[in-house]
Amino acid sequence: MIAVIGATGFIGTHLTRALTASGRTVRALVRDAGRAPARLTDPAGQTDGRLDVVVGDMHDPATLATLLTGARATYVLVQTVTSPQAAGTGDFAEAERRALARIVAAAHAAGVSRLLTVGLIGASRHAPNAWVRARADNDAFLLDSGLEVTVLRPGLVAGVGSVGFDRLLAAAGRTLTAVHGRGHQRWSYIAVDDLVGYLVDALDEVATYRRAFDVGSAEAPTYRELLSRTAAVLGRPTPLVIPVPLPLLRTLAPLVERRRRLPRGGIRSALDHLADDLAGDPTAIRTVLPRPLLTWEAAVRRAT
Ligand SMILES: NC(=O)c1ccc[n+]([C@@H]2O[C@H](COP(=O)([O-])OP(=O)(O)OC[C@H]3O[C@@H](n4cnc5c(N)ncnc54)[C@H](OP(=O)(O)O)[C@@H]3O)[C@@H](O)[C@H]2O)c1
Repeated sequence: MIAVIGATGFIGTHLTRALTASGRTVRALVRDAGRAPARLTDPAGQTDGRLDVVVGDMHDPATLATLLTGARATYVLVQTVTSPQAAGTGDFAEAERRALARIVAAAHAAGVSRLLTVGLIGASRHAPNAWVRARADNDAFLLDSGLEVTVLRPGLVAGVGSVGFDRLLAAAGRTLTAVHGRGHQRWSYIAVDDLVGYLVDALDEVATYRRAFDVGSAEAPTYRELLSRTAAVLGRPTPLVIPVPLPLLRTLAPLVERRRRLPRGGIRSALDHLADDLAGDPTAIRTVLPRPLLTWEAAVRRAT
């Protein structure tokens, strides 16, 4: 049985469906029981494996014990930047660090030695951006946890339901579009099906244990190039771009965080990061888990 933490999220939903479709039994952690079956069941109804659901919060040790007892591996696919958190979990980085520490402790206690997660391409502990540093800190913490950990680190994940991809798709369908920063930031990308393919294939691949891999395209087109290529797939002219100064959006971030009960600081850092490059070196994974990756155009076509 495989546990999935973050099963109702964008990547978690795709992964849970892929695991059950391949005949595996999945135990999914969900916070809202009402949303779980609709999101996690294969839309085509083709499910060979079984899906159990544990309702609860990743900050609750008893929930984690229930989730992980009897599991042979767990996926951790959570973020606290746009996911509301219970009061007292601290800012977004503290909330994630505490949750990961509880997950690692629960995994050790339940005898679950295998953990797979998704990070951020090129993330460094010395990055100027707090959100990027938090991704790198999480990777380092997990890799040092004594568990058999694999971290896959994508840039922009292409698929409907991914916030960055949905915005780009919507922008490509307009005549005029606002762009955070100037639109010259370079983004490596990966189709969600390819990311999920790597996550499933890595499960029992010992060569991925205790390692982090950048995954995705070797090319890192600029945001404007991605916009223009997306518009071409949609059969539309490239939209005219209006750069929006980030400082304006930054000042609104604390308001959004308060209104949506989000931990402090995450939205602002994630917004700042929108103007940064998303690039790394995805060559190592290709020898360990070779697979042909979808091009940007094919990923857009698959999503539309
Ligand atoms: N999407 C991308 O383009 C992308 C790119 C690079 C890296 N990543 C990384 O991949 C990971 C997953 O991303 P995603 O886009 O799939 O995220 P997402 O759609 O926002 O999903 C986040 C998941 O975390 C769960 N969660 C948050 N707080 C929780 C808590 N206290 N207890 C239990 N569950 C909790 C959410 O549950 P609820 O449904 O109950 O809110 C949801 O299932 C993140 O670490 C993210 O940084 C994503």
